[in-house]
Amino acid sequence: MVTGGRVPVSPAPGVAARRQHLRVDGPRLLARIERLRAVGATPAGGVSRLAFTPDDTRGRELVASYLRAAGMGVEVDPAGNLIGRRLGARPDRPWLVLGSHLDTVPDGGPLDGAYGVLAAVEVAHVLAEHGVEMGFPVAVIGFMNEEGAFGTPGMWGSHAFAGQFDRTWLSGVDSRGEPVRDLLRAAGGDPGRVPRAAWPDGSVGAYLELHIEQGPVLETEGYPIGVVTAITGRVTIDVTVRGQANHAGTTPIALRRDALVAAAQFVLAVRDIAGEDGIVRVATVGCCTVEPDAWNVVPGLVRLRADLRDVAEESLDAAVEALRRVAEKIGAETGTVVELAPSQVVQPMACDGRLRRLISAASDALGLPYHHLPSGAGHDAQIVGRLAPMAMIFVPSQGGRSHVATESTAPEDIVAGANVLLHTVLGYDPEVMRGHQ
Ligand code: GLV
Ligand code: MN
Ligand code: MN
Repeated sequence: MVTGGRVPVSPAPGVAARRQHLRVDGPRLLARIERLRAVGATPAGGVSRLAFTPDDTRGRELVASYLRAAGMGVEVDPAGNLIGRRLGARPDRPWLVLGSHLDTVPDGGPLDGAYGVLAAVEVAHVLAEHGVEMGFPVAVIGFMNEEGAFGTPGMWGSHAFAGQFDRTWLSGVDSRGEPVRDLLRAAGGDPGRVPRAAWPDGSVGAYLELHIEQGPVLETEGYPIGVVTAITGRVTIDVTVRGQANHAGTTPIALRRDALVAAAQFVLAVRDIAGEDGIVRVATVGCCTVEPDAWNVVPGLVRLRADLRDVAEESLDAAVEALRRVAEKIGAETGTVVELAPSQVVQPMACDGRLRRLISAASDALGLPYHHLPSGAGHDAQIVGRLAPMAMIFVPSQGGRSHVATESTAPEDIVAGANVLLHTVLGYDPEVMRGHQ
């Protein structure tokens, strides 16, 4: 809905002074985080709201009701992204987009992604409640499948949003054997029209994402706010180790082609390419399936998925090459074949300097000390950054823990981060963003 005539981009001095005193409704934000946490709550105290599951859909419906309460028009795009729109008085201008994701890892925490979306909804709600007219349209997005549920590509929705979606992702089945197209359809998407989820070049003025840090830096250094400098790059590699299944009691050790023994050596090699003396910052093998998975059969087939991360793309390339050489050597020594297939490459991305200054100014105005730091986790922001300038705000993670049930952030930090997002939005001026940095 277009709500009026032309408004200037910068508010008049009296209006600007009133805006300085605006704050998010902390209790409402915290209550909504708790409410969403209950959707997909697990006996272990965590949250399992994997993309494409009924719990994910229920969570998205709950957040859609919050978007409506904030006066936004709500839709689900063909890629499954949940979008709330507030056109304002200048719908012709590029959008300011706020967002994150609503899905979780298995037995994950209540804040990873959900916090950023609910805080963005809260910002929109406060703007509506106080009748704040922005000189540009604002969208709030809950991106679909950031975490890569059941082996599907992560940052799914943001790839579609940025026009970077690979249509082959729709073919085939997930790790449970479910056809991916059917999953998307059931989640409210439209597999045949995913390219239409792409926002045109120039339509997004800037993207802001508020997120928990998911690491220990802010807590250790004693800062309530983080201004993200850059987001790490990531390569995931599917590894298949082919040996030969045989009887565990009768097959002499020297004659075995044990796929799990070879896989174990590969896991150690992945660890060795990372860290201070390694090629990349961190590397992990977090998935492993063994066939036939019987205690009295020598394993014949193992599948692993490795995750390598670094802010330098060349380091990621070099690490993949090093692992290829190691795989060949392990195969030769164990009588197995170790195949590597890099499955998703996500480039590192620097945050926009102008938006970072805006976040710093908002923190200063709120009296909140901030620290500049890179993100070791991946985020939808780094995909949206291919389309438009982007930046991220972090708040501390207690104990530096995330992707686990004990993921938490102090309530005052949760509210402080949302206020920084609010004041970054209030300070945003599309004129300053002309031309992509
Ligand atoms: C995203 O959750 C990541 O794995 O960094
Ligand atoms: Mn995550
Ligand atoms: Mn996240």
